[in-house]
Amino acid sequence: MLWGVALHCSVCHLERCEEPTRGNALNTVQRYMILVTGGTGFVGSRIVARLASEGAKVRVLARSRADVPGADLVQGDVRDLSAVVQAARGCDAIIHLVGIIREMGDATFRRAHVDGTRTVIQACHEAGVSRLLHMSALGARPGARSKYHRTKWEAEELVRGSGLAATIFRPSVIFGPRSGFITEIRKLLHQGPVILIVGSGMSLLQPVWIDDVASCFLSALSKPGTSGQSYELGGPEALGFEQLVDLVAEADGVTKPKIHLPPRLIGPAAAVLGRIWSRFPITSDQLAMLLEDSVCDITAMVQTFGIEPASLRDHLVD
Ligand SMILES: NC(=O)c1ccc[n+]([C@@H]2O[C@H](COP(=O)([O-])OP(=O)(O)OC[C@H]3O[C@@H](n4cnc5c(N)ncnc54)[C@H](OP(=O)(O)O)[C@@H]3O)[C@@H](O)[C@H]2O)c1
Repeated sequence: MLWGVALHCSVCHLERCEEPTRGNALNTVQRYMILVTGGTGFVGSRIVARLASEGAKVRVLARSRADVPGADLVQGDVRDLSAVVQAARGCDAIIHLVGIIREMGDATFRRAHVDGTRTVIQACHEAGVSRLLHMSALGARPGARSKYHRTKWEAEELVRGSGLAATIFRPSVIFGPRSGFITEIRKLLHQGPVILIVGSGMSLLQPVWIDDVASCFLSALSKPGTSGQSYELGGPEALGFEQLVDLVAEADGVTKPKIHLPPRLIGPAAAVLGRIWSRFPITSDQLAMLLEDSVCDITAMVQTFGIEPASLRDHLVD
């Protein structure tokens, strides 16, 4: 610290910025204490590992008791204000990742995305944390067919109206070790005598490498200009869903005939079983998302964070 006291930088919005008057933020996060909500998940555990390896002090908020190497766990629901305030106290920033991909029981999109984000914002104010990095999703918009995207949009709107120095990230599908999306494709490939493709298989995705996503989050912590901005995150190329299935099949040495299933045949089962049976392969929401493109312009991501995005093709054996 420059003058031996915690100074709040009006530009990068972090308490421990070394050069507050010039707004020349640190290139390192090593002095920061960061709360990562959802830090036990696929994306969260990677971000936590990266923060810890850079020397940051990390706290994680999640419901389940889990060992999170490099971080202290605060167990609690993201809608429990006292738990979030307790976890946020003394932190320089919150990385808010909590999200669900399928509703189950009382874990609804509205509760996880909208109510959870409202609580995190309130906790920021109560705990005096002014910097928020918020995880949304590409395709979040009002009037989207999927409730996932509609509630992600509502959460974004809360963040934009929060008065915090917030940065929003909107990734396409994220791939990496333990990626749920690639795991689901592998199940498609390895179960049964044929490969079932829902719809034409032509909808486009732009898979983004988990480490590139983590790099954007870490880099944003020391880039004052990213406050008040939203960034779409994607990989270097757009791939049709079937093309993606073919790539994974090739990597796994699977050769089976493919059958295209009209969405109207799977729709009713997805609507009923997807809601009550967690092992049913697809929900109505996932079906709606699978049938629309998830692609973006990554110029801002590349220029702002200096990332040369990795290709899925190079990581299929991970
Ligand atoms: N993976 C992708 O391809 C992708 C693409 C675009 C956007 N995103 C977004 O990125 C974020 C992280 O995704 P992910 O793939 O890492 O998901 P994930 O592996 O399912 O992790 C979700 C995390 O949130 C926690 N969580 C869920 N509900 C909670 C609650 N009510 N209170 C507290 N913690 C809760 C989970 O821990 P507990 O269950 O123990 O609480 C876990 O740590 C999500 O917001 C997701 O929408 C992901």
